[in-house]
Amino acid sequence: MSTPEPPLALLAELTHRCPLQCPYCSNPLALEGVEGELGTEEWCRILDEAAALGAYQVHFSGGEPALRKDLPKLVRHASAAGLYTNLITSGIPLNGEKIDALAGAGLEHVQLSLQDTLPEEADRVAKMPGAHAKKLEIARCVREAGLALTINCVFHRQNLERLDAMIELAVALGAGRLEIAHVQYYGWAIENRQALLPSRDQIEKANALIADAEARLKGVLLFDHVPPDYYARRPKACMGGWGRQFLNISPSGKALPCHAAETIPDLRFDNVRERSLADIWVESDAFRRFRGTGWMPEPCGSCDRREIDWGGCRCQALMLTGDAAQADPVCELSPDHGRILQMVKNEAGQEVPPFRYRRKAN
Ligand code: SF4
Ligand code: FES
Repeated sequence: MSTPEPPLALLAELTHRCPLQCPYCSNPLALEGVEGELGTEEWCRILDEAAALGAYQVHFSGGEPALRKDLPKLVRHASAAGLYTNLITSGIPLNGEKIDALAGAGLEHVQLSLQDTLPEEADRVAKMPGAHAKKLEIARCVREAGLALTINCVFHRQNLERLDAMIELAVALGAGRLEIAHVQYYGWAIENRQALLPSRDQIEKANALIADAEARLKGVLLFDHVPPDYYARRPKACMGGWGRQFLNISPSGKALPCHAAETIPDLRFDNVRERSLADIWVESDAFRRFRGTGWMPEPCGSCDRREIDWGGCRCQALMLTGDAAQADPVCELSPDHGRILQMVKNEAGQEVPPFRYRRKAN
């Protein structure tokens, strides 16, 4: 196999600790504890190695990355190494002073999550009273500090009717971009699938509304929207293709091709404590396993979209077929596509059960 292109971005999962308990959290069910987290100097070395490897940006994420006291130091280090710096945050541990300090350290962009536009609904999803009000305050501080702001909202059957209100709120907050995400069904989202899965009718209305808003708000708000998997005819290129654009480092230093890769049982993950980032990117078994197209069975192997969607999502293929090397069943050409249709028929539009929240103390 030829040497891969450098990764576009390093996803630095600084911690799995988080003050919120969103029922669609994409972190693993078994969270990594604080005692195993990489230290400041280890992260600084990884940031240097990412820059040397040719990565363009670093996304500080988690859990909640702002729970790490060394975040300003890491931002400063990344910035000095020439990386574009983005903070993916719930906003909860931040305040105006901390945001100013991060801006002073070279932070360029903040991606702030909102759960809903109705405060009581947003707080119910996050399972934290007052969370929504705090987030609105943080959005204001981010803009006052002169930082670029993206609002991220995960949509599902219980908040899709307020998509238009979220678009208006993003504009009012001065965001330059709105990421309209849909629940990805692995991790905690699987536990809550029936409570989250929207109906086809909800999705069609949302698509029309987004198309209209994109035209109306051209030059004001950029939209980042990937239609939800279960109502698509072809899958998305998950992670931009396995081992092609992203390198995920877990809080304890495991190098993962995607944040859910550990659900694939026969993959072995290298740790940045033991091997250089460059070595892992090029050589490690986990990154090579599904990189490119050589691993693909039919129907992907001879499909003219195999270098467009790269066979979809490996983790979803595993979850729904028991084999991570199969075509993502979201694809209509997959022999397992019927499972998706059956699931949607069984679960969307059924009675909404209560959320199951993460139990681990945060
Ligand atoms: Fe993508 Fe495979 Fe479906 Fe072709 S057959 S569209 S490569 S998932
Ligand atoms: Fe792992 Fe899609 S979430 S490849």
